Amino acid sequence: MWGRFFRHCGPNLRTLYITALLVLTVGSVCGQAAAQRKLVYVTVLFRHGDRSPVFAYPTDPYKEEDWPQGFGQLSQEGMRQHYELGQFLRKRYTGFLNKFYDRNEVLVLSTDYDRTLMSAQSTLAGLYPPSGRQIFMKGLKWQPIPVHAVPKSQEKLLLFPLGNCPRYQQLMNETHQTQEFLTFTATYKNLMDLVEKKAGFNKTEVNYVWGVQDTLFCQSLHNMSLPAWVTPDVMDKLNAFKDFALEILFGVYKQQEKSRLQGGILLGEIVKNLSKMAVPKPNQKLMMLSSHDTTVAAIQASLNVFNGQQPPYASCQIFELYREADGSYSVSLFYRNDSAVEPYPQQLPGCSLNCPLDEFVRITKPFISDDRDKECQVPSEGTDSNGPLTQKPECYTSRVHANLDPSCRVICLQKEKTGSRQKRHLSKQ
Ligand SMILES: *[C@@H]1O[C@H](CO)[C@@H](O)[C@H](O)[C@H]1NC(C)=O
Ligand SMILES: *[C@@H]1O[C@H](CO)[C@@H](O)[C@H](O)[C@H]1NC(C)=O
Ligand SMILES: *[C@@H]1O[C@H](CO)[C@@H](O)[C@H](O)[C@H]1NC(C)=O
Ligand SMILES: *[C@@H]1O[C@H](CO)[C@@H](O)[C@H](O)[C@H]1NC(C)=O
Ligand SMILES: *[C@@H]1O[C@H](CO)[C@@H](O)[C@H](O)[C@H]1NC(C)=O
Repeated sequence: MWGRFFRHCGPNLRTLYITALLVLTVGSVCGQAAAQRKLVYVTVLFRHGDRSPVFAYPTDPYKEEDWPQGFGQLSQEGMRQHYELGQFLRKRYTGFLNKFYDRNEVLVLSTDYDRTLMSAQSTLAGLYPPSGRQIFMKGLKWQPIPVHAVPKSQEKLLLFPLGNCPRYQQLMNETHQTQEFLTFTATYKNLMDLVEKKAGFNKTEVNYVWGVQDTLFCQSLHNMSLPAWVTPDVMDKLNAFKDFALEILFGVYKQQEKSRLQGGILLGEIVKNLSKMAVPKPNQKLMMLSSHDTTVAAIQASLNVFNGQQPPYASCQIFELYREADGSYSVSLFYRNDSAVEPYPQQLPGCSLNCPLDEFVRITKPFISDDRDKECQVPSEGTDSNGPLTQKPECYTSRVHANLDPSCRVICLQKEKTGSRQKRHLSKQ
């Protein structure tokens, strides 16, 4: 309609009308949004920062002693990444968060890893530098803020893939038989053979290649020279390989069911909290969760917004709960995977960018189980209590868990060691 009207106007008049229209609409939309949409609660879930590798492959010229604090530890670069994330959060939530640290306002949860605990603390250092009455030591721009964690063996929320789930193991087994997986491993057969031979393995598996990629990636970021066989082309292929190795854990095949057994568990808790906080004066403002690449990928897969790339160091999934002008609530998602640009808004498939809370709850529901233990049982054949025990040990958890248990340090590579893990599962029953 406007197009036709403008065609009859001279160019100057047309420009004038467009300008006037823009000023009017933009002005009123922004004015309204700023005046009426009110942030009430935020959950941020991030990956730890830059770290040392979690293991050395058999022919690795570098050993654990070559890293200042050994394997799997946050580096100073990682500390800086999280300090910067904290500064970003301070800026983004100015006027929402109290300038002073208020223990009722923020709750911080982390997995019980040095690197995630330290990442949370570095973020808090950037977010809550003390001022005025909160300075407890003159000249120190830091104050202690609690970071909570449960022992690794009891972690059932932030460490993925979650274990004790025969049905998930079965789904992974089935994933390994899908066309996507077979095509992928056929495409990268030469790469897998190369890694097996050069890295000194006796056989090859997706997680070995991922493990080697990870170690090489850490070394290259720290300017350590790589062996001659790791050409830029090989490294590119390893990087693509690692993205797929991560993606198959939560996606590619039966993503919704995988989500119900994995990321949906955490998503369910987050959705529950968003709903609980959907009141005019919620008793908390910021929930901070410090975790791993697999955690971020799992939650994104359960929201159906995973972009297929391993979440970079210190990348941050943001959930913002708003109170709208009419008193209803809505959720906006953002992904900060690059500190050089504004966080990417994410659209929950089937909803608008500002997704009404009840729609958010409805759309995510199929991805959330309210009885995981039951759904983890394998139908029919799994009735015998031997069922889960005859299956492969949970080596798909390898990379993240690599320093969970020293017997599993070389990411479940050695048969006898995975064997003893299985026995431990047995004796637990
Ligand atoms: C995995 O698949 C193989 C066949 O490819 C089968 O022999 C094995 O029992 C399966 N394991 C589980 C845990 O389902
Ligand atoms: C490979 O096999 C040889 C001979 O069986 C064994 O000595 C070696 O430890 C194995 N290497 C790995 C990485 O498992
Ligand atoms: C590696 O080298 C680059 C370029 O010289 C430098 O910017 C970076 O800080 C170095 N990284 C480490 C961890 O030393
Ligand atoms: C949900 O909120 C409660 C209360 O603040 C908190 O204890 C819990 O850790 C939160 N869970 C998640 C996943 O945010
Ligand atoms: C960050 O996420 C966006 C949106 O999914 C994607 O387009 C971009 O490539 C990602 N960047 C990095 C550095 O991972």
